Amino acid sequence: MIDFKALAQTYGTPLYVYDFDKMKTQFESLKEAFRGRKSILAYAVKANSNLSVVKHFAQLGSGADCVSIGEVRRALMAGVPKYRIIFSGVGKRDDEIREAIESDILYINVESEAELGRVEMIARELGAKARISIRVNPNIDPKTHPYISTGLHDNKFGVEIVAAKRMYIQAKNSDHLDPVGIHFHIGSQLTELEPIYEAAVIVADLLRSLQAIDIELKFFDIGGGLGVRYDNETTIEPYDYAQAILSALKGIDVTIICEPGRFLTANAGYFLTKVLYEKNNGAKRFVMVDGAMNDLIRPSLYKAYHRIEALDKSGEESIADVVGPVCESGDFLAKNYPLPPMEHNDLLVIHSAGAYGFGMGSNYNTRGRSAEIAVEGANVRLIRRRENFEDVIALEREYL
Ligand code: LLP
Repeated sequence: MIDFKALAQTYGTPLYVYDFDKMKTQFESLKEAFRGRKSILAYAVKANSNLSVVKHFAQLGSGADCVSIGEVRRALMAGVPKYRIIFSGVGKRDDEIREAIESDILYINVESEAELGRVEMIARELGAKARISIRVNPNIDPKTHPYISTGLHDNKFGVEIVAAKRMYIQAKNSDHLDPVGIHFHIGSQLTELEPIYEAAVIVADLLRSLQAIDIELKFFDIGGGLGVRYDNETTIEPYDYAQAILSALKGIDVTIICEPGRFLTANAGYFLTKVLYEKNNGAKRFVMVDGAMNDLIRPSLYKAYHRIEALDKSGEESIADVVGPVCESGDFLAKNYPLPPMEHNDLLVIHSAGAYGFGMGSNYNTRGRSAEIAVEGANVRLIRRRENFEDVIALEREYL
């Protein structure tokens, strides 16, 4: 049990707290599901990019799925071996492509024909052969929130099958490209297995048709997306997930790469915030807290639900909006949430905040970002100090 009260007292609020043991359990459960098969779990760094979190996964044997050269640098700095680092993303700059090739990472995940041309050109300039995979868009509806759905043709991600095939042939014939993998990712917070299976079948068919023309790929990258329970969603069991992928791949000998982010970190993270005031505007009850949309934007951006626990409180619950101090009506952590009467300094624990929480934060309203804490067994440690006013203005003040 994590002593949230003690942590809030020692480190102040708002505060992010991560349960490193829980992250480990999640990692191992997924790794176990693919046991006996060549597989790499490449942690999606964007979900929670704190260096200590990335290092924690690196020590468990994880690779890293990165979407900027900054994330690649983080992964390397945190000890992820270069041969387990993947660089994805629809809009890579030339300097990012160059650095990725020079860093000799596992592969660059290419998302358009134009990008393939740039990668080839830059590799030629460097006298190198760039390892690539191609992100295929299988046009499958993942049945998740439209903002985090990526595998349909009206999304900006990946290329269609016919274009992908053309690109593999171009890569195979190039002295500066080495096609080693194939990739798809249809969306995030997936709670149904069927769309993943269908996508895997489509991409595995493409893999077979490439084998038939002598293009042998080593890596079958199934992206991330495994959903987690925020409320009472049904979720996909790692075993069933692995079996679905394996059945789509039957007869093909490849290393499976999986890029989980949320599955590894969401439910291992908590956001602690303190109650400032309560007020009633006519019929509506508001609980004002010291955390805000700049700390945790998921409720505002996706209407995402996060369970809230009022620590050590009892009394009759009534519906309230939990809102932060930021000057926006969209600044809320919960809408119409049943809470007991709250007083100044009471503590709320916002659950499932370990993925896309701190990382999507900002300094909006000149608010310093929260501190981050790791809890591992009986050990508690700071893994990012709280930003102060000086930190927030540091890059501007010299120009005053
Ligand atoms: N691989 C690729 C290519 C991705 O685009 C993503 C996430 C992942 C892996 C990791 O997906 P995960 O396992 O975490 O579902 N900010 C949103 C989620 C954005 C996901 C973007 N891509 C949220 O808070 O729900």
